[in-house]
Amino acid sequence: MSTAILLLAAGQGTRMNSDLPKVLHPLAGAPLIAHALRAGRSLEPAREIIVLGHGGERVAGVVADLAPEAVCVTQEEQLGTGHAVAQCGPALEGFAGDAVVLYADTPFIGGETLTAMKEARASGADIVVLGFEAEDPTGYGRLVTGADGLEAIVEHKDASVRERAITLCNSGVVMADAGTLLDLVSEIGNDNAKGEYYLTDIVAIARARGLKCTHVTCPEAETLGINSRPELARAEAIFQTRARAQALADGVTLTAPETVFFALDTVIGRDTTIAPYVTFGPDVTVESGVEIRSFCHLEGCHISEGAQVGPYARLRPGAEIGEDARIGNFVEIKAAEIGRGAKVNHLSYVGDADVGELANIGAGTITCNYDGVFKHRTEIGEGAFIGSNTALVAPVRIGAGAYVGSGGVISQDVPEGDMAIARARQVNKPGLGRKLRDRLLAKKKEQR
Ligand code: UD1
Ligand code: MG
Repeated sequence: MSTAILLLAAGQGTRMNSDLPKVLHPLAGAPLIAHALRAGRSLEPAREIIVLGHGGERVAGVVADLAPEAVCVTQEEQLGTGHAVAQCGPALEGFAGDAVVLYADTPFIGGETLTAMKEARASGADIVVLGFEAEDPTGYGRLVTGADGLEAIVEHKDASVRERAITLCNSGVVMADAGTLLDLVSEIGNDNAKGEYYLTDIVAIARARGLKCTHVTCPEAETLGINSRPELARAEAIFQTRARAQALADGVTLTAPETVFFALDTVIGRDTTIAPYVTFGPDVTVESGVEIRSFCHLEGCHISEGAQVGPYARLRPGAEIGEDARIGNFVEIKAAEIGRGAKVNHLSYVGDADVGELANIGAGTITCNYDGVFKHRTEIGEGAFIGSNTALVAPVRIGAGAYVGSGGVISQDVPEGDMAIARARQVNKPGLGRKLRDRLLAKKKEQR
């Protein structure tokens, strides 16, 4: 059966105290909404519908990147979760299958949990609600259950003293046939403590129609919603704890796991070693048997098998590190391919470049890739040797096997196998060193 996800993202997030919409705040290097989307995608949805609030253009812009196929729906006024779902009617036109309601500010709902809900649907429930045992249920909707399943959801503000004693709470995730859901939602009223159209009211309405409602539970940690920066920081800590455990389970060595930070999409191969204090930004893939030493910052890069990176290396988007290559301390690589076995060991900037296999880039080599307006490429051939403290003024090509003498400013191509020397010739003046010192010392004496 096909599935549609309805991602509610209309909330203001005022408690974030931010100009950035709440669901765009980054968690593990990805906007919050990306986490919820990823959870929903475990169901391989045929349709993705995102409900945005007033001024949701910025979120829509990010959604266009994350989910180009998604339909964004605007809920001009936030009249409640039921009202938000009702806005999805037109976007669900012609869709036959189940709809799953998810909150964009709730990043940790697990794929297995959604699968369990799907199974509950398959075994005959018309509506499946995801519940959890809350340590402190204050503020949550309570699941009222009876002999034949879920009877109603009562919001905290509307709950009686007896209902408030219930600790089984509503996560907000709901699964039902899309047509049925829209039909039920159209019957919701707003005669309640908040004057809102509560999505949760569909349970009682469905029961009155003789439909079967049930609940599935998940650990409370999965339902954590982000409303404030402390909650965001807590979620980051939870994410990192899990990601570290996952990396260890995947056969990655982390010498001090608590000092390594991953992004949502980090991929690391088996038998790779990561020393303390390494940060992964978005879009990093590391193959097997790589050694990443301390204090590296990596984003948008790919590191091939057997390579060694760091300590203190910065790999920026488009850094493609070849097999067995060496990237050493205080080296920055951007939009550059470093060939197999090539070495950039110390104090270098290599940007917009292609470095051939087994080339050796000496300490302090800089690609001067930017002329203030345009970026230009540097090409370094296989096995070339670039002497220390070389400035390579792009666009420039160093041929395979060529030598570049130390301290040069290279602005012309160097043919294959040639040597380029681009610095003033050294002159030695006999005895002048001693003479100069004597003169200076005499001057110092005079001044006393
Ligand atoms: C909701 C549930 C409650 C549950 C709790 C779990 C209802 C009525 N209540 O309460 O049972 O225990 O979540 O966290 O559903 N939203 C919109 N448009 C709106 C209103 C909300 O898109 O008009 C979105 C919000 O951005 C948010 C989500 O829906 O992502 C939940 O809304 P919120 O106001 O936080 O609901 P709660 O009162 O927390
Ligand atoms: Mg809430």
